[in-house]
Amino acid sequence: MLKGFVFDLDGVITDTAQYHYQAWKACAARIGITIDPTVNEALKGISRMESLEVILRHGHRENDFTPAEKEALATEKNNEYVGLLANMTPADILPGMQAFLEALKAADYKLALASASKNAPTILARLGLADYFDAMVDPATLSHGKPDPEIFVKGAELVGIKPSEAVGLEDAVAGIQAINAAGEFSVGIGDPKILHEADLNFTSTSEVSLAAIENAFESKNA
Ligand code: G6P
Ligand code: MG
Repeated sequence: MLKGFVFDLDGVITDTAQYHYQAWKACAARIGITIDPTVNEALKGISRMESLEVILRHGHRENDFTPAEKEALATEKNNEYVGLLANMTPADILPGMQAFLEALKAADYKLALASASKNAPTILARLGLADYFDAMVDPATLSHGKPDPEIFVKGAELVGIKPSEAVGLEDAVAGIQAINAAGEFSVGIGDPKILHEADLNFTSTSEVSLAAIENAFESKNA
């Protein structure tokens, strides 16, 4: 029986990728590395330090910094990113998602957030959505990033449901793989060709339908 939903944040509820890109671009430029939108795609869904490693490898500078220097670079990027988040308002909620969250609450589903971002609580607060969620996974407590299932398993656990009773929502391939490995029903938001491993797909957030998810969940578990 379907009891709850475990949400990714970026690309599902709001689009912070543009702000991450802007902040990483400025940080990379200071160490002589140029990044483009293709590099930015590879940063979606992965942690801050993993993102830095991807950028350093892209610039062939992966052996040029001590762990302390890497920490300092990541902190600089985050300070810039947090400055950009200050511009966010409820107008930055992706189309259809507030109504979807309302429908989930009205139907008494449990809601958990499974974002790799340490800034997720700030972002939800800026969007005015913090009260919709019963629990948020703290990414600092995790041993493995997506596609490891850990974050989605923990999300379900925090709201007291089994993975088999949960739907996970994601816009990234690694995220869909994490949901599937957790044993949850996976909903992909984005290009169905890219997210073909998902149990159910919507091409954009405005297409997301609770009835369609409930039906597909029932059929899969019948
Ligand atoms: C999300 C984004 C990633 C980002 C990660 C960590 O998963 O999609 O691009 O690197 O969060 O974000 P943070 O706010 O902790 O630096
Ligand atoms: Mg995402």
